[in-house]
Amino acid sequence: MKKKLYIETYGCQMNVADSEVVASVMAERNFEISDNQEEADVVLVNTCSVRDNAEKRVWGRLRELNALKKSNKELKLGLIGCMAERIGDEMLEDKVVDIVAGPDAYRNLPYLYDKSIEGEDAINVELTIDETYDSIIPKRMNEGISGFVSITRGCNNFCTYCIVPYTRGRERSRDPKDILAEVRDMVKNGYKEVTLLGQNVDSYKWMPEGTTKPVRFHHLLELVAQESPTLRVRFSTPHPKDIKESVVKMIAKYPNICKHIHLPIQAGNDEVLKRMNRRYTVEWYQNRVEMIRKHIPECSITTDVFCGFCGETEEQFQGTLDMMKWVHYDTAFMFKYSERPGTYAAKKLEDDISEEVKGERLTRMIQLQSSLSIESNQSDIGKVVEVLVEKLSKKSSDELCGRSSQNKLVVFPKKDAQIGDYVRVKIERCTQTTLIGEMIEKIDAPSF
Ligand code: SAH
Ligand code: SF4
Ligand code: F3S
Repeated sequence: MKKKLYIETYGCQMNVADSEVVASVMAERNFEISDNQEEADVVLVNTCSVRDNAEKRVWGRLRELNALKKSNKELKLGLIGCMAERIGDEMLEDKVVDIVAGPDAYRNLPYLYDKSIEGEDAINVELTIDETYDSIIPKRMNEGISGFVSITRGCNNFCTYCIVPYTRGRERSRDPKDILAEVRDMVKNGYKEVTLLGQNVDSYKWMPEGTTKPVRFHHLLELVAQESPTLRVRFSTPHPKDIKESVVKMIAKYPNICKHIHLPIQAGNDEVLKRMNRRYTVEWYQNRVEMIRKHIPECSITTDVFCGFCGETEEQFQGTLDMMKWVHYDTAFMFKYSERPGTYAAKKLEDDISEEVKGERLTRMIQLQSSLSIESNQSDIGKVVEVLVEKLSKKSSDELCGRSSQNKLVVFPKKDAQIGDYVRVKIERCTQTTLIGEMIEKIDAPSF
């Protein structure tokens, strides 16, 4: 009989992609995915360490999951992902979990499960320089419209605040052949959208054997876009220091590459950016935005930004607000600085901004972004956007929702459209988070 595996995923899109790799590895060894934690033989929690509150959530969840063991004595609880890498050894020692596997150790999971059954320590947190899970076709777990494909793993940038280079190890690119095989598999299974993932997609580089010309990110984008005109292509995350005109031109060239660039700014002041080791200036970032707008005037630009980094003065924080206004981001992920043990900032810089000031600055950022998002959505009223229909709207089963090329959520009355269709929608109203309109027609593929 097959054993049952329940996986829960926290953190970034890469973890979502990795959970699908894990599901595939486990399926090879007679495990099937279950959506019921009560009946599981093994529960794996794929975790994130990027901020302290991300870890706190997981701690809370692990307490709940441990309670399941009272009624299911055979249950094994596994910690995978970035927290496993960071503090998995302690958690195994304290018997909070039975299995620990870091981001490069997922092929090892069936073996680790067997060890835990035998009552032995089941841990592998070794980081490698070359694991990219090639030849594993991830087992997709969502509704089958939109999926992720990793193109690089790890990160070499060492932004001073960030834990990722420590939990994910060194950066490595995947063979384009394997990436395209995954994309083809998605197309074959009816997927309509793929998001290419890497911590810094612009540094993607693959040297095909016997050649001297590397495959760069813009080449890869083109190869993926050419796989199928009915497959929309997105990517995350470019780095402002590295984003190239060649990439932006490629986005402009192909109707099925979405007109959306998520360009994390982190802070809008040169001294703060320097302390963060971001390796660009405000002026450089502005120049990149101008370059994007020159080639793709309708491109949506969104960002990650955080306040309260070590030594951030009120004036420096104002620089961040000024930049948010200058770019006029369509949306933003906004955070308070959270010191991560082991990073350069934790060792060398003082976390000297009080929680109160961090909170107050975050509130001001959120307020500003709300008004920018509303203005951005209002400016879409009257326009026609192309939407990939993803699901029924939350509010009514007579309405569908999906995303525009610019990655905005669009809701409209269903008529004869179905999930997975491409449709043109004329925008009539909006809220801060949603565009609302009428469907004009169905189309075969993205066209602008
Ligand atoms: N590779 C991506 C980001 C990955 S982490 C990039 O370079 O843009 C996702 C986001 O979490 C970051 O963009 C940053 O805004 C935020 N972040 C990372 N470390 C943080 C920390 N210590 N405290 C608060 N936010 C952090
Ligand atoms: Fe972290 Fe910087 Fe790497 Fe992004 S680029 S993952 S912020 S170190
Ligand atoms: Fe979190 Fe690890 Fe992603 S720290 S953001 S899950 S790479």
